[in-house]
Amino acid sequence: MPHLLGLQNFPAADLRDLLHQTLAAKHEPARSKPLAGRLVANLFFEDSTRTRNSFTAAAYALGAQVIDLLGSSSSVSKGETLIDTARNVEAMGVAAVCVRAKQSGSAAMIAKDAGCPVINAGDGKHEHPTQGLLDVFTLAESFNRLDSFDLTGLRVAIVGDVASSRVARSAIAGLSTLGATVVTVGPPGLVSAGFGAAVSHDLESVLPMLDAVMMLRIQFERHADGANPAPAGQAAKSGNIASVREFRALYALTAERERCMKNGAIVMHPGPINRGIELDACVADGPRSVILRQVANGVFARMAALAWCCGVARGG
Ligand code: CP
Repeated sequence: MPHLLGLQNFPAADLRDLLHQTLAAKHEPARSKPLAGRLVANLFFEDSTRTRNSFTAAAYALGAQVIDLLGSSSSVSKGETLIDTARNVEAMGVAAVCVRAKQSGSAAMIAKDAGCPVINAGDGKHEHPTQGLLDVFTLAESFNRLDSFDLTGLRVAIVGDVASSRVARSAIAGLSTLGATVVTVGPPGLVSAGFGAAVSHDLESVLPMLDAVMMLRIQFERHADGANPAPAGQAAKSGNIASVREFRALYALTAERERCMKNGAIVMHPGPINRGIELDACVADGPRSVILRQVANGVFARMAALAWCCGVARGG
């Protein structure tokens, strides 16, 4: 039974298959309802806007109905474990469970004992494979690589809090598998070697060479002291960076820096955006931005993931 837990060590052929299924879902969304009469469960133990709702939209598009369980209103608050929660929901006869949790490895832990496919919808700092899938798809779409999904020759920077980012881990894996060159950019407290990509601490020197810039917010909630987000210009309560002001001064994609990007280069962000910190509003909403296209493609990528895991993908 296929689970989708991460893109690290994920076979290239399976990744291409998922991307082709995403393309098919986008161009023929009403082709069939292969999950008609089935149930899909969202088990979200951490907040989400995009991922949870796009899994719901994807399940509906495939004809399924959705059980939507939020950690805050579940019996986890009474001491039930994530595994017991998942097993109880699975006992209701679901075709697949989509799991988001604060703890890295949660989805794999649930998958170990699961009797149905498990899709990792983001586990701590570990992986977010459907985000990686939609990111790779959006990049391929932006550069007319949808026939082969060969991304050779494209240079992508992932900028910001890479150390805390499950999005970065999945994106680096997916992009590298398909031939793109990836560089991670940020201050030493947030970016270092060991993520499978080149490292730069100098955004302005790499910016003119890039085809795509993926900006990440600072995930203060995952830093050692668990500090809350700090507004732009205020000191962050985090040991990972000196201050938000310094981070913004060196690593934000401002309107001025955006003008140094080459013609045709695109701006990506997985969301949520902290406008005015890592990304200027005019860049987020500007002509290079594919941020909302990423969100739109997320529904098709999750249709592909659900169909693939449930064995109802085209040709599956
Ligand atoms: N990109 C992403 O995972 O967003 P959400 O946290 O809103 O799901």
